[in-house]
Amino acid sequence: MMTKITLRRPDDWHLHLRDGAMLAGVLPETARHFGRAIIMPNLVPPVVTGDDARAYRDRILAALPGGMAFEPLMTLYLTEATDPADVARAHAQGLIHAVKLYPAGATTNSQSGVRNIEAVMPVLEKMAEIGLPLCIHGEVTTADVDIFDREQVFLDTVLDPLRQRLPGLRVTLEHITTAQGIDYVTNASGDIAGTITTHHLMINRNHMLVGGIRPHYYCLPVAKRASHQQALRAAATSGNPRFFLGTDSAPHTDPTKESACGCAGVFSATNTLSCLAHVFEQETALDRLEGFASLHGPARYGLPPNDTTITLEKRDAPVPYPAKIVTGAGPVTLFDPGHPLFWHVIA
Ligand code: NCD
Ligand code: ZN
Repeated sequence: MMTKITLRRPDDWHLHLRDGAMLAGVLPETARHFGRAIIMPNLVPPVVTGDDARAYRDRILAALPGGMAFEPLMTLYLTEATDPADVARAHAQGLIHAVKLYPAGATTNSQSGVRNIEAVMPVLEKMAEIGLPLCIHGEVTTADVDIFDREQVFLDTVLDPLRQRLPGLRVTLEHITTAQGIDYVTNASGDIAGTITTHHLMINRNHMLVGGIRPHYYCLPVAKRASHQQALRAAATSGNPRFFLGTDSAPHTDPTKESACGCAGVFSATNTLSCLAHVFEQETALDRLEGFASLHGPARYGLPPNDTTITLEKRDAPVPYPAKIVTGAGPVTLFDPGHPLFWHVIA
C-alpha cells in the first residue's frame, strides 16, 4: 500500500481570494501548498480592466506573508462594456491569463455579468484570435429553469451554440457538477477543458440536505445527485488532460453563510490536498493525482509545471485541521468532508 506521494507543486485553476482583511486571512491557506492560482475577478466592484487587474495583483502580492512564494494569475471579469483592445493589451503584457464569463445573476457578485452574449462577441472574437481562454460559469439564470438543471441546460442552449459560432475560442468550463458537463468536455471537438472542485468530488446534494440543511456545503453550481458526483470522480481520476483542479475555494464569513439567506461558496483551500489524496486513493488512482492537480492545468494554460514539489504522507492519526480560519473580516468555516483525513502534507 502506498503511504507517501511526491508531486510537482500543484496549482489552483479557480480561486476566490477576495480583498482587504479577507484576502490577508485566506491567502496563506492557498500559498502554503499551491504555486499559482487563477484568481477570480468577482470583487465588488469587479476586476474589469487591465488596470484593475494590475492593482489587484499588487494587493495580492502585498498581502503575501514574507517567505511564501505564490504567483497570482489574473483574470478579467467580462461585462457588456469590456473593451477588446484593453483585453488584448493586458494579455500581451502577460498580466492576464483568462477572461471570466458570469451570466448575470448566476452566482455571488455576478450582477455585472453578461445578459446578452451578442454584446460581448467582439471581445470573444478578439480572444479567439489571440488564444486567450474564456473561463465560463456554465449555468443559465432563467427563472423557469430548475436550479439542479441549470448547468445541463447551459450546455445545449449557450455553450454549444457559442462554440459552433466561434470554434477558435478556447473555453474552460468551470466547476463542472453534472455527468452531462463531463460528457460535453470529454467528447466535444476543439479547444475545451473543464475544472472540477474538491468539494464536488466529496459531497452530493444529500450531504447538504439530509438530516438538516448544511449551509457550508451550499455553493454554485449547487451539488447534484450522487450519480453526478460519481461522474466527476471518474473524470478527475481518469488521467484525461482536459480535466484539472479548480478548487473554487470561496470564503464567506460564518454570519453570511449561517443565515436565512446564506451566501454560496465553500472554503477548501486549507485541506484540499488532503481531500484529493483521500479521493484519489479511494478510486485507486493516486498515480493520477499529479496530472489532475499539477500537470494538466499548466499544459492547458501554456505554462511550465512548477519546479518545486510537495510530499503527502498517509498517517494513522488524522490531520488536525482547524474548523475555522480566523480572518480580520471574521471567521471562515473550512470545508468538512464529514470524515477524518489521513493524508498529511509533510514537505
Ligand atoms: C463563488 C463566490 O462566492 O464568489 N461562489 C460559489 O458558490 N462558487 C462564485 C462562483 O464561483 O460561482
Ligand atoms: Zn468560483
